[in-house]
Amino acid sequence: MGEKEKKEYSKRILLTGGAGFIGSHLVRRLVNRYPGYQIVCFDALTYAGNLENLRDIEEAPNYTFVKGDICNFDEVKRAFADYGITDVIHLAAESHVDRSIKDPFSFAKTNVLGTLTLLQAAKEFWEASPEGYSGKLFYHVSTDEVYGSLALDPTAEKAPYGADTFAETTPYSPHSPYSASKASSDHFVRAYHDTYGMPTVITNCSNNYGPYQFPEKLIPLIINNILNRSPLPIYGKGENVRDWLYVEDHASAIDKVFHEGKPGETYNIGGENEWKNIDLVRELIRITDRLLGRKDGESESLLTYVTDRKGHDLRYAIDSAKIRRELGWAPATSTEEGLEKTVKWYLANKEWLERVTSGEYREYYQQYYGKDED
Ligand code: NAD
Ligand code: DAU
Repeated sequence: MGEKEKKEYSKRILLTGGAGFIGSHLVRRLVNRYPGYQIVCFDALTYAGNLENLRDIEEAPNYTFVKGDICNFDEVKRAFADYGITDVIHLAAESHVDRSIKDPFSFAKTNVLGTLTLLQAAKEFWEASPEGYSGKLFYHVSTDEVYGSLALDPTAEKAPYGADTFAETTPYSPHSPYSASKASSDHFVRAYHDTYGMPTVITNCSNNYGPYQFPEKLIPLIINNILNRSPLPIYGKGENVRDWLYVEDHASAIDKVFHEGKPGETYNIGGENEWKNIDLVRELIRITDRLLGRKDGESESLLTYVTDRKGHDLRYAIDSAKIRRELGWAPATSTEEGLEKTVKWYLANKEWLERVTSGEYREYYQQYYGKDED
């Protein structure tokens, strides 16, 4: 790419993990809302990466896909140089807690070393540019799981540090290999800010749900299993609590923080929308049965209590007062609306679900880009 093309865009954003669940919503939002920005989706296309998620915008002039691994310093450096990257929005990660329990090493590699590789490439590239760090931003998209677990009933028994919700000041206390790796990557991001003066920002978000989520995660897994009349696995007693946020509201929060957040700061993002797993699954049964024209509660018989997740965090709940107060962000989607839209999307996109569960989606890169998978 020549100098002229680089200068056409006011920002050239390396968006890592853009072919994944949240990344694809964010890519779509930024490509459509900001024609003056170039969005470079940098993704290794692991099992969780699916370019079919981005089909509707793949021809947009300000969208570019680069297949690359954040752990590969040469590939990352090349992307910075080829596109004159001005900003990074970093989502690429191994994201599934159950997989981290079985294979912690791949989480340390991608989430910790991959983040460090990106930070170092950004540092070298930006420090060598005439304007240095001015006008640059490294944004890390992180999770509320770094804060550990809250008590189920905050009035009866406080968490060790006496909090009922996670605030930005809550001490880190990760439990799973996934959350330990995300906590570590957050620390590296802060270290690059504090040591080298890199402009960085971190957001820690609660559980997302919505279209294009890989059906290993609770909500799409349950919808898919109801559809196929397969067992609905509930870990333990189903008493664990998660704070759910519609994915487009997460994308709008990232957009807000990217443009208005203060470098060096952390913002918590959440729906303030807590559900016990069993109650959420029952709600999904109610909605899905209705939309499928089944008898009310027909799929309740599929509920299956299974062995609990090892080290299963009891409760997450986000205090999002800071981003609401300082940046004026708030979720736009009610749970009722979000769950209804989500179930409708999966039912209307059975082919997407089938291609993901059969593995056919992995052929799309080769078909569209005419290159072999490596
Ligand atoms: P996802 O698993 O759906 O997508 C991850 C993406 O990263 C995939 O496209 C994958 O191909 C890519 N990737 C993985 N390893 C890579 C590597 N080495 N190099 C380049 N790309 C690689 O994840 P998600 O649920 O969309 O989450 C995105 C980010 O948001 C993650 O960092 C996650 O920790 C964070 N987060 C997720 C949630 C949630 O509820 N899903 C909540 C808060 C924060
Ligand atoms: O809190 C943010 C995090 O939310 C993100 O950082 C992670 O990337 C994301 O995967 C998610 O983690 P969880 O472990 O909370 O999500 P998951 O969908 O795997 O599980 C949600 C809850 O449902 C959790 O308490 C475990 C339970 N569960 C999950 C599955 C897959 C079940 O009971 N049965 C299941 O089959």
